[in-house]
Amino acid sequence: MIQSHHHKRLTVYASIAAGVLLLAGLGFGVYRFILTNRALKETQHKLMTSLESIATLEKQNEELGGTLSETAKKKEELDVALKQQQENNESLKDRNNNLQEERNLYEKIAKTDKQLLAKYSKVYFLNENYSPIKLTDINTMYTLPVGKTLQFLDPAYKYLEDLLKDAEKDGISLRIASAYRSFETQASLKSNYKVTYGSGANTFSADQGYSEHQLGTTVDFTTPELVGAVQAFANTAANKWLLENAYKFGFVLSYPKSNAYYIYEPWHWRFVGVDLAKGLHENGKNFYDLDQRAIDEYLIKIFD
Ligand code: DAL
Ligand code: ZN
Repeated sequence: MIQSHHHKRLTVYASIAAGVLLLAGLGFGVYRFILTNRALKETQHKLMTSLESIATLEKQNEELGGTLSETAKKKEELDVALKQQQENNESLKDRNNNLQEERNLYEKIAKTDKQLLAKYSKVYFLNENYSPIKLTDINTMYTLPVGKTLQFLDPAYKYLEDLLKDAEKDGISLRIASAYRSFETQASLKSNYKVTYGSGANTFSADQGYSEHQLGTTVDFTTPELVGAVQAFANTAANKWLLENAYKFGFVLSYPKSNAYYIYEPWHWRFVGVDLAKGLHENGKNFYDLDQRAIDEYLIKIFD
């Protein structure tokens, strides 16, 4: 009985000890679990922070990349604009040079080419080697027969074109039948006339070297209705218009009625510069009435 009692007590102690041990084990387990869990959470947190930092860095990198490519694009655009500007400058310079060259040329012609205002006809002889410094094609919309190639002294051409345009505005269709004629052209023209008219040709056609047409500043006008019948030009509205307006563009009638050189040639007009043409018009005088020395004073301003 006592033994059994003793045994019972031992069992109780053992149970208690086992219980304590179990509790301690459990407590330690819980403690370890909490520790591990905390460490895990910390690691997780660190990982998250790192990931966030990486994302931020990546974003910054991307933005930086974008800014860089934008900057590169802007630089490219600026380069293009700069190149364009440089090209513009170059072409402007070229144009300036061309204009200057043209001005120099015109000035030189006005200063040196005394022939431009010399009296020809039967009086003065133009060197057979003389040819205008620069010729330009007359717009074929003004030439007759349609499409005929005719040339005029370049610096004087704008005056002729202005005259033609102004006439058109007034309802007058002026056309050009003849303009610049070389020494050779005039020679063959005159010899053809001589075949038909004999010495009579001298009344309306200059010998080679004596024609104002060799200067490049003289034209024979006509109108589309005339079809080459030059004598009838005197009775046209075009003739009347020329007599009233041609001087404004620097043109004079070389052979008016009863002139000393040729028959009346209402179609034959010569460019002598606006100043001189105006002066003559205002004083009711003809080009060949003036003294050569008085005429020569206008040479320098012939293209003004
Ligand atoms: N018809 C004019 C005079 C000339 O031949 O120049
Ligand atoms: Zn003529």
